[in-house]
Amino acid sequence: MIAPPGAVVLKEGSTSLFVPAEHSTKGPGKRIGRVFYNQQMAFNRDISVLFYQSACMDSRNALDAMAATGARGIRILNESGTKAQFVMNDKDSEAVRFIQANIELNELEGGCASQDDLRSHLAKHVYDYVDLDPFGTPAPFVQSVFQGCKRNAIVAMTATDTAPLAGTHVRKCIRRYMAKPLRGVFGHEVGLRILIGYLAREAAQLDRGIEPLLSFYADHYFRIYLRLKENAAAAEHSLSNLGFLTFDRETLVREVSHEFCQEAAGPLWIAPMTDKSILDNMTKLDSLEHPARCAKYLNLWKNELDVPFFYENNELSSFLHSSPPELERLLDRIRKQGKASRTHFSPSGFKTDLSLKELLSLYPEVG
Ligand SMILES: C[S@@+](CC[C@H](N)C(=O)[O-])C[C@H]1O[C@@H](n2cnc3c(N)ncnc32)[C@H](O)[C@@H]1O
Repeated sequence: MIAPPGAVVLKEGSTSLFVPAEHSTKGPGKRIGRVFYNQQMAFNRDISVLFYQSACMDSRNALDAMAATGARGIRILNESGTKAQFVMNDKDSEAVRFIQANIELNELEGGCASQDDLRSHLAKHVYDYVDLDPFGTPAPFVQSVFQGCKRNAIVAMTATDTAPLAGTHVRKCIRRYMAKPLRGVFGHEVGLRILIGYLAREAAQLDRGIEPLLSFYADHYFRIYLRLKENAAAAEHSLSNLGFLTFDRETLVREVSHEFCQEAAGPLWIAPMTDKSILDNMTKLDSLEHPARCAKYLNLWKNELDVPFFYENNELSSFLHSSPPELERLLDRIRKQGKASRTHFSPSGFKTDLSLKELLSLYPEVG
């Protein structure tokens, strides 16, 4: 095996990887040489390995469409126990040298390197599983990915353009996703729901529906795993899960509706974002790169109420001109009357099925 020029070997999870000696270690990461590797995304790849171990994954052929060093596909093949044929593709020839070297380094029979623009690759090949991991927005590639998916395929996607989706750049979000974001304490949940809603609308153009399997926000990115559902009825059903959000900054009331109004954010996905049954099968954490962080997130996702939208403890207490109560004490009190959970979006946030009026009435008791 020939090591690519400028490569070093490191271990991520239980996989050895050739990566460029100079690489990103935090933030969204930037390409330092021609080949991209970001150490901070190891957690994101850990979750891919776990997801692939889950019962819903029976994929026979899979594509890591923007593979760079191949880190994600290589780790899934090496650590999940899948027997899938995994194509790792990148348009850059130097990246493909890394992919080939990593397949050889790990002696992966199911791995195959490919050099192509993913759009032309997916015009010629179809897959049971496609992973899309772009710099920034996935929007320009979504139609190609859906068209390169077999019936009921699974699509995984990262979006690192959190600023437009979470409302910092409103016009950019409207141009990319044809949806209006909302800047505010729960802006990241709005952004994730806008992204899922956008995918539902793009799939509907092909008479396909979407079923979100796992959706989350971490660090500087959104990540979604979804299953495509075939036929026009599935597409219609997905579209019925789209709605609009109005947020009154004076009263803090968040209202979700199927009706459009001028001030509303959206369209966005208002149905569940995660299928909790999948999380039960994501259990083999020991050999991952960040087992403790994976366990923490799995626990948050399992227990999180899947209702829009979360509240911030600080937000409500400043509204009431009081200091924030201890979060667990507040949640215990809410549970005497309704449901409550923490949220993975924020360590000081929570979700509940109580109305805002009911919720605010409990604050004096726990303050
Ligand atoms: C963010 S990196 C992928 C990181 C990788 N998935 C990982 O986990 O380390 C994006 C990669 O997409 C590649 N790329 C960009 N546009 C592409 C296209 N149209 N077709 C195929 N690859 C593309 C870039 O060369 C780059 O290597």
